[in-house]
Amino acid sequence: MRTIIAGNWKMHKDRTEAENLLDAIAASGPFDGVEVLVAPPFPFLDLAVRHVGGKGVRVAAQNCHEAGQGAFTGEVGVPMLRSLGVGACIVGHSERRQYFGETDVMVGRKVAALLKDELQPIYCCGEQRAEREGGTHFDVVATQLHTALSGLGPKEIARLVVAYEPVWAIGTGLNATPEQAQEMHAFIRAELRKLAGDAADAIPILYGGSCKPDNAAGLFAGADVNGGLIGGASLVADQFIALVRIARDAKRTA
Ligand code: 13P
Repeated sequence: MRTIIAGNWKMHKDRTEAENLLDAIAASGPFDGVEVLVAPPFPFLDLAVRHVGGKGVRVAAQNCHEAGQGAFTGEVGVPMLRSLGVGACIVGHSERRQYFGETDVMVGRKVAALLKDELQPIYCCGEQRAEREGGTHFDVVATQLHTALSGLGPKEIARLVVAYEPVWAIGTGLNATPEQAQEMHAFIRAELRKLAGDAADAIPILYGGSCKPDNAAGLFAGADVNGGLIGGASLVADQFIALVRIARDAKRTA
């Protein structure tokens, strides 16, 4: 199984800060079996490909439009990303759902657009705090997965990376316990199996939500936790590089 550490920079960094962080990450390789991705804001994607391309780090976007091109002011199409050498794209992040009104149906269309142009979708799902407290978290995540992905065939779903991001743990300093993470990741894999059959066993499922060097070893130890989608800690080179090493060690001893 692949192990992935992906950094979601969200709306952070200026050009110089971005270059410094990219250079520090590239210089810390080789990564010994861990796939490393960075997802900077759109203006820095070209620069990111130039700084880390060929150094074992892949570049991902944080969002895309479902159409290839057209009169959609302010949007970015998948062919544009592809032409820059961007290899993957986060879709369905809870911040896109919460602040920009993205629904599972919209997210499903973006996943299809990415697969059509051979970019790897990093599909995010996860429940709100009230949903976990109300005990509906499994239903919520199952509905997200099936609504967004049911239009795809098993071979297409096999090309995804899935990220479980409990919304109550994002940027809050709260994280799922290793047991909560593994339990939900195993559930997600079982739901993916309904959609993609045995191919689900090879789909990386990443944990995201206040994942830091001091809690990552326990989280990454879960059998169905195949790495992390990292927010805040991906903005600090030492922390991000530490997370790559922790993931490598967790999977080596597994
Ligand atoms: P934090 O690691 O800052 O909680 O963010 C997680 C996240 O949203 C990654 O996409």
